[in-house]
Amino acid sequence: MQSGNLQGAQERVNPVFLTAKTAICLMARASIADTAEIVRCLGLEDNQPLQSMADSDTILGNALVVEAKYRTMCRLIENCGYRTCVDLPCGYTPKALHLTQKGFRFVGLDLPIVVQEMEPIIRSLAANPERVSFCGVDATNYESLAAALQNIDEPLCITTEGMIMYFTENEVETVIANVRNLLEVHGGCWITPDPEFKLQFILTFRSVFGENSLAKLATTGNVATKQSNVANLSNSFIVDARTGSLKAAQNLLAKHGLKAERINLAEHMPELSVYRQLTSKQILQFKEAMRNCHYWIITLDEMRKPQTIQRQNPFEMNHKLANGILRIKLRGRVDSISAPKILLAWEAEKIAGVIDGVEIDCAELDYISSAGIRVLSDMQKNCGRGVAFFNVNSSVAEILSQNGFK
Ligand SMILES: C[S@@+](CC[C@H](N)C(=O)[O-])C[C@H]1O[C@@H](n2cnc3c(N)ncnc32)[C@H](O)[C@@H]1O
Repeated sequence: MQSGNLQGAQERVNPVFLTAKTAICLMARASIADTAEIVRCLGLEDNQPLQSMADSDTILGNALVVEAKYRTMCRLIENCGYRTCVDLPCGYTPKALHLTQKGFRFVGLDLPIVVQEMEPIIRSLAANPERVSFCGVDATNYESLAAALQNIDEPLCITTEGMIMYFTENEVETVIANVRNLLEVHGGCWITPDPEFKLQFILTFRSVFGENSLAKLATTGNVATKQSNVANLSNSFIVDARTGSLKAAQNLLAKHGLKAERINLAEHMPELSVYRQLTSKQILQFKEAMRNCHYWIITLDEMRKPQTIQRQNPFEMNHKLANGILRIKLRGRVDSISAPKILLAWEAEKIAGVIDGVEIDCAELDYISSAGIRVLSDMQKNCGRGVAFFNVNSSVAEILSQNGFK
């Protein structure tokens, strides 16, 4: 198997990594240190990811949100009391450079396709590369997270910026359970702006662009959903901006033995470089609006019930094409890490012979994420008799039926 093929398959099963390219181009617009160099190393000097954001005001509004998040998150990490930052997802930001200069240890976790590209860039720019490590993971895959952190024996400051909104209900529950397990093993805290990200966008755009904000917000939402190929940017952990109710998100945390302290953005946000592109009235209105937005510092609830960490089977796949039927046996998890292998096997079998139908034995299959669903949908669309599943356990059956499979 050529690595070029694997990279192409990684891109297709989970295109959400493209949103991180948009983010780094926006950070460069906000003149955040080292971002211009990272953009150059990524070959994005033409700002291609920003081209679908129709006008310069939409880009400015997005740069304002991104800079406020980046600088405030860095400040919260610096003040959290822990010295190891686990950035999940790390994307292409310069956080590793910023934090290691301040003596922190930095662990960058993201989908393999991001880490493969980002690690050499950061290593080439870091003054203290020995403080940095990267690992390809899938946040829904606990084994991948545990393996990435197995040599760390200090409490963690886990940071999640710009990821939770891309998850389905099932995925967000899995990720929250995984973070709880990491906190049980290592101690520390989880800091994230994600639950109130919609509020942050709406309040930012409204305070700066007034009546014209709606169309610019709509463009922003469309770019993110198109790049990530997700149906909508919502799940129970994302606060509904219309009602502002925190209940669903707080209940979800409580269910997993976690609790949140909400940190007022206006009180913790440093001065921003993007202000140079705003009028003083816009800056005042923006700062005022951020009083209604909060980032969450999440910790283990002392009253939580003990829970055992359930380990899952490692991924395995066997497949054979005979008489027009492709028979596949899957074991473990089908997620962003394993789905590219299934996609490549499916494409190789399609070249080798005619496939009328696919039969999948799920007896040892534990889980399917959206990345896996994309591959199964591709099979379903591209063979006459579709995909049939056998020996499916109840949790996999639920995921399949939620995605329109029988
Ligand atoms: C909008 S970007 C944010 C990146 C970075 N935190 C930032 O602020 O620029 C979303 C990131 O989430 C990552 N991501 C999405 N789903 C993931 C998953 N299941 N596991 C790990 N990373 C994931 C993507 O690869 C991408 O880097």
